[in-house]
Amino acid sequence: MNHNNLILLFSVIFFLSCTSLETNELDSSFTISQNNSISKRVDSIFELMTLKEKIGQLNQYSVGEEMTGPNQNNDYSKQRYNQLINGSVGSVLNLLGAENTRLVQQQVIENSRLKIPLIFAYDVIHGYKTMFPIPLAESCSWDLKLMEKTAKTSAAEAAASGIQWTFAPMIDVSRDARWGRVMEGAGEDPYLGAQVAAARIKGFQGESLSDSLSIAACAKHFAAYGFVESGKDYNTVNIGQNTLMNVVMPPFKMAAKNNVATFMNAFNDIDGIPATANIFLLKEILREQWNYQGVVVSDWGSIGEMVNHRYSKDLKQAAHQAIIAGCDIDMESQAYIKHLNDLVVQYPIIENEINKAVKRILTLKFKLGLFDDPYCYSSETREKKLVGSPAHLDLALEAALKSIVLLKNENQLLPLKKDQKIALIGPLANDSDAPLGNWRAHASSNSAINLLDGMRTVFESNITFAKGCELSIGNNNFFEELKINNSDYSGFKQAVDLASKSEIVVMALGEPAYMSGEGRSRSNIDLPGLQLELLKEVYKVNKNIVLILMNGRPLTIPWEYKNIPAIVEAWHCGSRSGDAIAQILIGDYNPSGKLTMSFPRNVGQVPIYYNKKTTGRPSSGPNQVFYVHHSDVDNDPLFPFGYGLSYTQFQYSEMKISSNEIHMKDTLKVKIKVQNIGDFPGEEIVQLYITDEFASITPPEIELKGFQKISLAVGETKQLEFNITKEDLSFYNKQNIFIAEPGNFKVGVGTNSRVLDVMAFNLVQ
Ligand code: NOJ
Repeated sequence: MNHNNLILLFSVIFFLSCTSLETNELDSSFTISQNNSISKRVDSIFELMTLKEKIGQLNQYSVGEEMTGPNQNNDYSKQRYNQLINGSVGSVLNLLGAENTRLVQQQVIENSRLKIPLIFAYDVIHGYKTMFPIPLAESCSWDLKLMEKTAKTSAAEAAASGIQWTFAPMIDVSRDARWGRVMEGAGEDPYLGAQVAAARIKGFQGESLSDSLSIAACAKHFAAYGFVESGKDYNTVNIGQNTLMNVVMPPFKMAAKNNVATFMNAFNDIDGIPATANIFLLKEILREQWNYQGVVVSDWGSIGEMVNHRYSKDLKQAAHQAIIAGCDIDMESQAYIKHLNDLVVQYPIIENEINKAVKRILTLKFKLGLFDDPYCYSSETREKKLVGSPAHLDLALEAALKSIVLLKNENQLLPLKKDQKIALIGPLANDSDAPLGNWRAHASSNSAINLLDGMRTVFESNITFAKGCELSIGNNNFFEELKINNSDYSGFKQAVDLASKSEIVVMALGEPAYMSGEGRSRSNIDLPGLQLELLKEVYKVNKNIVLILMNGRPLTIPWEYKNIPAIVEAWHCGSRSGDAIAQILIGDYNPSGKLTMSFPRNVGQVPIYYNKKTTGRPSSGPNQVFYVHHSDVDNDPLFPFGYGLSYTQFQYSEMKISSNEIHMKDTLKVKIKVQNIGDFPGEEIVQLYITDEFASITPPEIELKGFQKISLAVGETKQLEFNITKEDLSFYNKQNIFIAEPGNFKVGVGTNSRVLDVMAFNLVQ
């Protein structure tokens, strides 16, 4: 990384601050009354701004430790410093720490003419210092309060370190496990995705943006980035309007409704138009249909990348196209700062767009309280107290426990007993880094509790350990392509010997942290490297294996599923991963997570998702040829959406609906009883799905429209009630109108998307 550049930046800051720069004093008539409404305060400063200063507010660049793309201008020296203090930068990303942010803010406030504070932004995706489970994992908890709380805690840590804006939540629905960024989202479902989006936004933003423990959130990536062709990051997207509006949009619509402060564009084009300059997305949908008033930021360099897309002939045209479409902030393309001035001379109408963008940005700065106290976020005291605090680490444990999904548990091999003779084997068993996942923000590398340490804490027996094989070779970091070990078998023998002498083998296999995330797409989603071979060798000497998977995406594990008696999906589960897995292994916590992305049987099934269309050729029984299927693999996934086991069993009974017919204004009540009929107290995620039997656009087979997570003591029964309204039965039709069409529907309630009790009802005008 560019530590040298960082040092250079600070040296320049120091040097220039010591040489008492001449400051442009404000006109003495310029005073902003704090009692005025925000819009009046915005106007009062806006009126003083030159065009150059306005354009400066639209310019954002990175001055810190993280680089997520080619840097358009590697020169962090005096020129960039001058941009900062002469009002040519409105916000920066990747500068961290109460002291650093205060120092830079001070330079801007003391030296720039209008003293407009900077916003400091950062990718706080699943924690700042304390790492919570990767968002895909956490979505498997289906626990919205929990997700709100972890976002709130991440916000508090980041805010204390001077950050006011996170580029999260990522709310891209995706059906393709090859895409590395599925780790950042909430899986394949638009309804659940929308609920999670609302929870995370509430968590980050709190009750008021001006609270110095909350930060502005960012709904990203608008839109359809999760549908990149063949799961290849940054690739082109081709989806129809129906999928765009009914599958991709619901989380974004929810984000706009929940006043998310900002939106971020996506890198991809959709049907030939880059998202960054997509008037349909940014104007017709976002601004006009949803009346969104917040700020839109480009993705890193995505304005400049329109030249690579061959949609813009040069950077100047890219700037023109983006500003016209309503992209307010240029992150790291330097397209606006270089070209908007000339573009205004050529096309005066553009100034209108610039003015709107500037007002939105100033409004955000006022809302964040930065005009009242530009330093209110940079608090060393709060930073010391909050960042990585013990209470936050406790929350990380709770989140990890609730995110883990039990995939298989033949003959109740789990939970294990405290005194069993256990061998822990696998390259991820003593890995304290992989559980941190990608996008670990400010967390220190290797800072998670690993599984070996976690198990040694909870088991009374001596846990023996052998790695078996290395997973990767050499560097394993954010900036380099990972090299997987495919040839060094030297650890196999020790591992197999150990397994042969043990009662139980716990195997920790999966992906390193940097095998998922941005730029980490895979064409093969099996266990990487030698891990499956290792597992097979161990299996030859001991079949009592508990497979712990740690990964950032669904994997293809057909052999593992067929042969291994117990499988636990532990994802990259954050700072307390090892403790959480160990507590589940011993039965101190009964697993309750359910998958939010289907697990394919093989990669050829991808994209695979539960809310698929029936098509014109659904299956009509065995031994068919001419229907929708692959001839060499089942149509079903290995594990469907909503699937997850518990150490106990739940029985569903007495489903009832309030009527067989409802009107548009009515609410259908759906009741069902759920009883814990097993031997452990446990939590169940009860799911409700709808089927629209016939519609003016082909409807999905089923769609999630409700869920409740309940706790049940042994033997306990609870009756649950769900409400279905017109909104739940509505969709965007061909004319792009959100509408419910009268007709026949089914409602199903159950433990996952494949096991449902079903009843029918009619919707009438
Ligand atoms: C590129 C990523 O796509 C985006 O999600 C992230 O916020 C920016 N880089 C800034 O780091």
